[in-house]
Amino acid sequence: MIEQLQETTDYLIKRGVKDPQIGVILGTGLGSQFIEKMEVLVTVDYEDIPHFPEATVLSHEGKLFYGVINGKKVVALSGRFHFYEGYSMQQITMPVRVLKLLGIKQLLLSNAAGNMNLNWKKGELMLIDDHINLQPDNPLRGPNDEKLGSRFPDMSAPYDLKLNDKLKAIAKDRKIALREGVYVAVMGPNLETRAEYRFLKNIGADVVGMSTVPEVIVANHMELPCCAISILTDDCDPDNLKPVNIAEIIEIAGKAEVDLTELYIDLIHKL
Ligand code: HPA
Repeated sequence: MIEQLQETTDYLIKRGVKDPQIGVILGTGLGSQFIEKMEVLVTVDYEDIPHFPEATVLSHEGKLFYGVINGKKVVALSGRFHFYEGYSMQQITMPVRVLKLLGIKQLLLSNAAGNMNLNWKKGELMLIDDHINLQPDNPLRGPNDEKLGSRFPDMSAPYDLKLNDKLKAIAKDRKIALREGVYVAVMGPNLETRAEYRFLKNIGADVVGMSTVPEVIVANHMELPCCAISILTDDCDPDNLKPVNIAEIIEIAGKAEVDLTELYIDLIHKL
Protein backbone atom coordinates (compact mmCIF):
# COMPACT_ATOMS: atom_id res chain seq x y z
CA MET A 1 0.00 0.00 0.00
CA ILE A 2 2.78 2.42 0.89
CA GLU A 3 4.17 2.19 -2.68
CA GLN A 4 0.79 3.18 -4.15
CA LEU A 5 0.49 6.05 -1.69
CA GLN A 6 3.95 7.23 -2.67
CA GLU A 7 3.10 7.04 -6.40
CA THR A 8 -0.01 9.16 -5.86
CA THR A 9 1.93 11.64 -3.73
CA ASP A 10 4.74 11.88 -6.32
CA TYR A 11 2.18 12.50 -9.09
CA LEU A 12 0.60 15.38 -7.16
CA ILE A 13 4.01 16.89 -6.38
CA LYS A 14 4.79 16.72 -10.11
CA ARG A 15 1.53 18.54 -10.81
CA GLY A 16 2.73 21.33 -8.51
CA VAL A 17 1.18 20.46 -5.15
CA LYS A 18 4.20 21.57 -3.12
CA ASP A 19 4.52 21.66 0.68
CA PRO A 20 0.89 22.22 1.66
CA GLN A 21 0.41 23.04 5.33
CA ILE A 22 -3.30 22.38 5.67
CA GLY A 23 -5.70 19.85 4.15
CA VAL A 24 -9.45 20.41 3.90
CA ILE A 25 -12.12 17.83 3.05
CA LEU A 26 -15.34 19.38 1.83
CA GLY A 27 -18.51 17.31 2.25
CA THR A 28 -22.06 17.28 0.86
CA GLY A 29 -23.16 20.63 -0.59
CA LEU A 30 -20.01 22.32 0.65
CA GLY A 31 -17.23 23.50 -1.54
CA SER A 32 -17.63 26.28 -4.06
CA GLN A 33 -17.72 29.13 -1.52
CA PHE A 34 -14.60 27.85 0.17
CA ILE A 35 -12.79 27.38 -3.14
CA GLU A 36 -13.76 30.95 -4.17
CA LYS A 37 -11.81 32.25 -1.17
CA MET A 38 -8.71 30.45 -2.34
CA GLU A 39 -6.08 31.71 -4.77
CA VAL A 40 -6.10 28.46 -6.75
CA LEU A 41 -2.71 27.52 -8.23
CA VAL A 42 -3.42 23.93 -9.31
CA THR A 43 -6.64 21.98 -10.01
CA VAL A 44 -6.48 18.20 -10.48
CA ASP A 45 -9.44 16.00 -11.48
CA TYR A 46 -9.70 12.91 -9.28
CA GLU A 47 -9.91 10.75 -12.42
CA ASP A 48 -6.39 11.87 -13.36
CA ILE A 49 -4.87 10.94 -9.99
CA PRO A 50 -3.29 7.47 -9.93
CA HIS A 51 -4.99 5.03 -7.50
CA PHE A 52 -7.66 7.58 -6.49
CA PRO A 53 -11.19 6.11 -6.38
CA GLU A 54 -13.80 7.74 -8.69
CA ALA A 55 -16.42 9.98 -7.08
CA THR A 56 -19.93 8.57 -7.66
CA VAL A 57 -22.10 10.95 -5.59
CA LEU A 58 -23.64 13.70 -7.74
CA SER A 59 -23.41 16.49 -5.18
CA HIS A 60 -19.67 15.88 -4.90
CA GLU A 61 -17.37 17.43 -7.41
CA GLY A 62 -14.33 15.16 -7.55
CA LYS A 63 -11.52 17.70 -7.77
CA LEU A 64 -8.40 18.51 -5.78
CA PHE A 65 -7.55 22.21 -5.42
CA TYR A 66 -4.18 23.49 -4.29
CA GLY A 67 -3.62 27.13 -3.55
CA VAL A 68 -3.14 29.89 -1.02
CA ILE A 69 -5.55 31.16 1.64
CA ASN A 70 -4.45 33.93 4.00
CA GLY A 71 -0.82 33.23 3.07
CA LYS A 72 -1.07 29.49 3.87
CA LYS A 73 -0.69 26.70 1.33
CA VAL A 74 -3.85 24.60 1.36
CA VAL A 75 -5.02 21.44 -0.41
CA ALA A 76 -8.80 21.12 -0.59
CA LEU A 77 -10.57 17.96 -1.66
CA SER A 78 -13.94 18.77 -3.11
CA GLY A 79 -15.78 15.48 -2.94
CA ARG A 80 -15.06 12.56 -0.66
CA PHE A 81 -15.60 8.81 -0.85
CA HIS A 82 -18.13 6.91 1.23
CA PHE A 83 -18.20 3.28 2.30
CA TYR A 84 -21.77 2.95 0.92
CA GLU A 85 -20.45 3.64 -2.59
CA GLY A 86 -18.90 0.19 -2.48
CA TYR A 87 -15.27 1.12 -1.86
CA SER A 88 -13.18 -0.46 0.84
CA MET A 89 -12.32 1.50 3.96
CA GLN A 90 -8.69 1.64 2.73
CA GLN A 91 -9.86 3.23 -0.53
CA ILE A 92 -12.05 5.90 1.05
CA THR A 93 -9.32 6.98 3.46
CA MET A 94 -6.50 6.90 0.94
CA PRO A 95 -6.77 10.65 0.17
CA VAL A 96 -6.12 11.47 3.85
CA ARG A 97 -2.97 9.38 3.82
CA VAL A 98 -1.81 11.09 0.63
CA LEU A 99 -2.43 14.54 2.15
CA LYS A 100 -0.30 13.57 5.13
CA LEU A 101 2.49 12.31 2.85
CA LEU A 102 2.27 15.61 0.94
CA GLY A 103 3.17 17.26 4.23
CA ILE A 104 -0.01 18.72 5.73
CA LYS A 105 0.16 19.49 9.45
CA GLN A 106 -3.59 19.83 10.11
CA LEU A 107 -6.71 18.32 8.53
CA LEU A 108 -10.03 20.19 8.52
CA LEU A 109 -13.14 18.12 7.71
CA SER A 110 -16.78 18.92 7.11
CA ASN A 111 -19.94 16.94 6.54
CA ALA A 112 -23.72 17.01 6.48
CA ALA A 113 -25.46 15.24 9.36
CA GLY A 114 -28.92 14.51 10.67
CA ASN A 115 -29.73 16.26 13.95
CA MET A 116 -31.16 14.25 16.85
CA ASN A 117 -30.64 16.86 19.58
CA LEU A 118 -34.00 18.53 20.19
CA ASN A 119 -32.33 21.69 21.55
CA TRP A 120 -30.80 22.35 18.14
CA LYS A 121 -32.21 23.10 14.67
CA LYS A 122 -31.41 22.13 11.13
CA GLY A 123 -29.19 24.71 9.42
CA GLU A 124 -26.94 25.05 12.49
CA LEU A 125 -23.29 23.98 12.74
CA MET A 126 -21.84 21.48 15.21
CA LEU A 127 -18.19 21.09 16.12
CA ILE A 128 -17.51 17.37 16.52
CA ASP A 129 -16.11 16.82 19.99
CA ASP A 130 -16.18 13.02 19.84
CA HIS A 131 -17.63 10.19 17.78
CA ILE A 132 -19.15 6.72 17.90
CA ASN A 133 -18.17 4.41 15.06
CA LEU A 134 -20.98 2.09 13.95
CA GLN A 135 -19.64 1.47 10.47
CA PRO A 136 -19.10 -2.23 9.81
CA ASP A 137 -15.42 -2.11 8.94
CA ASN A 138 -12.30 -0.19 9.93
CA PRO A 139 -9.62 1.34 7.67
CA LEU A 140 -6.92 -0.03 9.98
CA ARG A 141 -8.11 -3.66 9.72
CA GLY A 142 -5.38 -5.90 8.31
CA PRO A 143 -1.61 -5.92 8.71
CA ASN A 144 -0.34 -2.69 10.26
CA ASP A 145 2.38 -0.72 8.51
CA GLU A 146 4.40 0.87 11.31
CA LYS A 147 5.62 3.48 8.80
CA LEU A 148 2.07 4.85 8.77
CA GLY A 149 1.20 4.50 12.44
CA SER A 150 0.88 2.22 15.44
CA ARG A 151 -1.21 -0.94 15.70
CA PHE A 152 -3.50 0.39 18.42
CA PRO A 153 -3.88 4.14 17.95
CA ASP A 154 -5.09 6.12 20.94
CA MET A 155 -8.54 7.69 20.52
CA SER A 156 -8.86 9.59 23.80
CA ALA A 157 -9.07 12.90 21.91
CA PRO A 158 -9.63 12.14 18.21
CA TYR A 159 -10.49 15.78 17.44
CA ASP A 160 -7.58 18.07 18.27
CA LEU A 161 -8.35 20.11 21.38
CA LYS A 162 -6.26 23.10 20.27
CA LEU A 163 -7.99 23.29 16.88
CA ASN A 164 -11.38 22.97 18.59
CA ASP A 165 -10.55 25.74 21.08
CA LYS A 166 -9.51 28.01 18.23
CA LEU A 167 -12.75 27.28 16.34
CA LYS A 168 -14.87 27.98 19.42
CA ALA A 169 -13.10 31.32 19.94
CA ILE A 170 -13.56 32.29 16.27
CA ALA A 171 -17.27 31.34 16.40
CA LYS A 172 -17.73 33.49 19.51
CA ASP A 173 -15.95 36.47 17.93
CA ARG A 174 -17.98 36.20 14.76
CA LYS A 175 -21.26 35.48 16.55
CA ILE A 176 -21.70 32.20 14.69
CA ALA A 177 -23.68 29.65 16.71
CA LEU A 178 -21.43 26.60 16.95
CA ARG A 179 -22.89 23.64 18.81
CA GLU A 180 -20.60 20.96 20.17
CA GLY A 181 -21.37 17.26 20.37
CA VAL A 182 -21.05 13.63 19.34
CA TYR A 183 -21.27 12.34 15.75
CA VAL A 184 -22.26 8.75 15.13
CA ALA A 185 -21.16 7.21 11.83
CA VAL A 186 -23.45 4.68 10.15
CA MET A 187 -22.93 2.93 6.83
CA GLY A 188 -26.01 4.21 4.94
CA PRO A 189 -26.97 4.81 2.22
CA ASN A 190 -30.55 4.65 3.50
CA LEU A 191 -31.50 7.09 6.20
CA GLU A 192 -32.56 5.80 9.61
CA THR A 193 -35.87 4.46 10.81
CA ARG A 194 -37.55 6.09 13.82
CA ALA A 195 -36.40 3.19 15.99
CA GLU A 196 -32.83 3.64 14.76
CA TYR A 197 -32.80 7.39 15.50
CA ARG A 198 -34.14 6.63 18.99
CA PHE A 199 -31.37 4.06 19.47
CA LEU A 200 -28.62 6.39 18.19
CA LYS A 201 -29.82 9.18 20.46
CA ASN A 202 -29.96 6.83 23.45
CA ILE A 203 -26.39 5.63 22.99
CA GLY A 204 -25.17 9.22 23.29
CA ALA A 205 -25.00 10.73 19.80
CA ASP A 206 -26.24 14.20 18.88
CA VAL A 207 -25.96 13.85 15.11
CA VAL A 208 -25.70 11.03 12.57
CA GLY A 209 -23.92 10.80 9.25
CA MET A 210 -22.28 8.43 6.78
CA SER A 211 -18.72 9.78 6.52
CA THR A 212 -15.79 11.44 8.35
CA VAL A 213 -15.09 8.81 11.04
CA PRO A 214 -12.93 6.53 8.83
CA GLU A 215 -10.93 9.61 7.75
CA VAL A 216 -10.51 10.70 11.37
CA ILE A 217 -9.36 7.20 12.40
CA VAL A 218 -6.69 7.27 9.69
CA ALA A 219 -5.65 10.83 10.63
CA ASN A 220 -5.23 9.72 14.27
CA HIS A 221 -3.30 6.65 13.13
CA MET A 222 -0.84 8.99 11.35
CA GLU A 223 -0.86 11.42 14.31
CA LEU A 224 -2.30 14.14 12.09
CA PRO A 225 -4.28 16.68 14.15
CA CYS A 226 -7.78 17.13 12.78
CA CYS A 227 -11.09 18.86 13.44
CA ALA A 228 -14.53 18.41 11.91
CA ILE A 229 -17.71 20.47 11.66
CA SER A 230 -21.15 19.06 10.79
CA ILE A 231 -23.86 21.03 9.09
CA LEU A 232 -27.14 19.88 10.60
CA THR A 233 -29.23 19.38 7.48
CA ASP A 234 -32.33 17.60 8.77
CA ASP A 235 -34.19 17.10 12.04
CA CYS A 236 -34.30 13.48 13.15
CA ASP A 237 -36.78 13.43 16.03
CA PRO A 238 -38.04 9.84 16.26
CA ASP A 239 -41.38 11.05 17.63
CA ASN A 240 -41.99 13.53 14.82
CA LEU A 241 -40.12 12.23 11.79
CA LYS A 242 -40.82 13.72 8.33
CA PRO A 243 -39.81 11.97 5.10
CA VAL A 244 -36.32 13.03 4.12
CA ASN A 245 -35.81 15.39 1.21
CA ILE A 246 -32.31 15.13 -0.27
CA ALA A 247 -32.77 18.34 -2.31
CA GLU A 248 -33.56 20.18 0.94
CA ILE A 249 -30.51 18.65 2.66
CA ILE A 250 -28.29 19.98 -0.12
CA GLU A 251 -30.00 23.41 -0.03
CA ILE A 252 -29.55 23.72 3.75
CA ALA A 253 -25.92 22.63 3.47
CA GLY A 254 -25.40 25.36 0.85
CA LYS A 255 -26.82 28.08 3.14
CA ALA A 256 -24.81 27.00 6.18
CA GLU A 257 -21.72 26.93 4.00
CA VAL A 258 -21.35 30.71 4.42
CA ASP A 259 -20.67 30.36 8.17
CA LEU A 260 -18.61 27.20 7.84
CA THR A 261 -16.41 28.85 5.20
CA GLU A 262 -15.87 31.84 7.49
CA LEU A 263 -14.89 29.61 10.41
CA TYR A 264 -12.40 27.59 8.40
CA ILE A 265 -10.89 30.58 6.55
CA ASP A 266 -10.34 32.30 9.89
CA LEU A 267 -8.90 29.15 11.43
CA ILE A 268 -6.45 28.80 8.53
CA HIS A 269 -5.38 32.40 9.15
CA LYS A 270 -4.59 31.52 12.78
CA LEU A 271 -2.62 28.31 12.10
N1 HPA B 1 -28.76 10.12 8.67
C1 HPA B 1 -27.59 9.77 8.15
N2 HPA B 1 -26.86 10.59 7.42
C2 HPA B 1 -27.30 11.81 7.21
C3 HPA B 1 -28.52 12.24 7.72
C4 HPA B 1 -29.28 11.35 8.48
O1 HPA B 1 -30.38 11.66 8.96
N3 HPA B 1 -28.69 13.53 7.33
C5 HPA B 1 -27.61 13.87 6.62
N4 HPA B 1 -26.77 12.84 6.54
